[in-house]
Amino acid sequence: TGYTTYDDGLANTASTMSAITYIDGDAGVLRYRGYPIEQLAKESTFLETAYLVIYGELPTAAELATWEDRIRRKTMVDERMREFFKMFPRRSHPMPVLASGLMMLSTYSFDSVDYTPEAIEKATERLIAKVPTLAAYGYKNSRGEAMLYPDNSLSYIENFLRMSFAYPTEPYEFHDEITRALDVLLILHADHEQNCSTSTVRLIGSSGANIYASVAGGVNALSGPLHGGANQAVVEMLSAIKESGISVKEYVQQVKDKKAGIKLMGFGHRIYKNYDPRAAIIKEHADKVMSLKAGRRDLLKLAQELEHAALEDDYFTERKLYPNVDFYSGLIYEAMGFPKEMFTVLFAIGRLPGWIAQWRELVTNPKRKIGRPRQIYIGEGERDYVPLGDR
Ligand code: CMC
Repeated sequence: TGYTTYDDGLANTASTMSAITYIDGDAGVLRYRGYPIEQLAKESTFLETAYLVIYGELPTAAELATWEDRIRRKTMVDERMREFFKMFPRRSHPMPVLASGLMMLSTYSFDSVDYTPEAIEKATERLIAKVPTLAAYGYKNSRGEAMLYPDNSLSYIENFLRMSFAYPTEPYEFHDEITRALDVLLILHADHEQNCSTSTVRLIGSSGANIYASVAGGVNALSGPLHGGANQAVVEMLSAIKESGISVKEYVQQVKDKKAGIKLMGFGHRIYKNYDPRAAIIKEHADKVMSLKAGRRDLLKLAQELEHAALEDDYFTERKLYPNVDFYSGLIYEAMGFPKEMFTVLFAIGRLPGWIAQWRELVTNPKRKIGRPRQIYIGEGERDYVPLGDR
């Protein structure tokens, strides 16, 4: 019935109406609920931005205090869940562990398919509060280290840093610059309209599946190297270039020759045909964090040389390929002390408010329809079944 249009990669299909995030890819503009990303990165905190993305307005001082308090009081996970993390093999990649943790969290929620405002509110707060705990436990498991309880006297970011890096036997020392840099990085990731993982969250949610199942799907979609996994892939690419001893020019040439599908990871974007505004902000923080801790300055230098070479090359300029959010973020995470397997988990913590806001926007729309794309069939025409002995 009707007609079907073919849109490869859904590049020209608007799948929803949304009031959350505005992007002008040609001008390099990104706004959450109307507020420019540059202002939020400078003035806001991640928890405040999460509130803005989810509820649509900046909170008053009283609303913010209540929100922070409600989140703080939900950071613990059931004791059995801590045991659950120990079931994963040592050195498990923390991304599938996070996705599994979210599904386990759903089994502790008896209202997870309930669309009452109270149930949605509770699930929202539980997710924002507990995902950093799950992320830190996935990390601690991969190292065989003790999983710490949250310390609710700390801020959201400090609490996560402590759960990731502290040991039960030693005090943990915070660096304000690192705490703030992580806060800013999470703000920059908070939403990005209908990207692959967010579309996945919406598609799962459109069937009536609960928010935990939808967000776990988002984590899995994010894990791929063309999406959130690019931040890990960038550092792997830089290390491989360094180890192989080839020059930046030679690597750029290999990318241009499209040999073995090599890409310049951290470059290009479906929507930004100009500098990704998030990459510009991250770049400013890279030097600051790296001067504090022993980050891979050699890799930062290499990244800067690669960027310079690409921005001067017709192949990249003709295709409008510029650094994206993932180009420098991995190097900062690395300088903070995170191993590369954690980079995409950090992206997931940042993107969580966006996934939640988009799921809420979907399920509170009374005209919501199940997502169900069409296809163009290119298989065999009708044919008769051939008995096994005759094949
Ligand atoms: N290196 C080399 N060539 C590239 C790259 C790249 N990073 N990105 C795109 N191209 C080329 C591509 O080969 C194609 O060339 P041609 O016209 O000769 O066939 C042209 O540019 C258009 O690319 P496309 O693949 O049609 O563009 P797309 O919108 O489908 O893909 C993308 C967007 C982000 C998947 C892609 O640019 C890419 O693979 N980049 C590297 C991975 C990456 O950094 N991903 C993170 C994206 S931003 C944050 C996030 O979503 O997580």
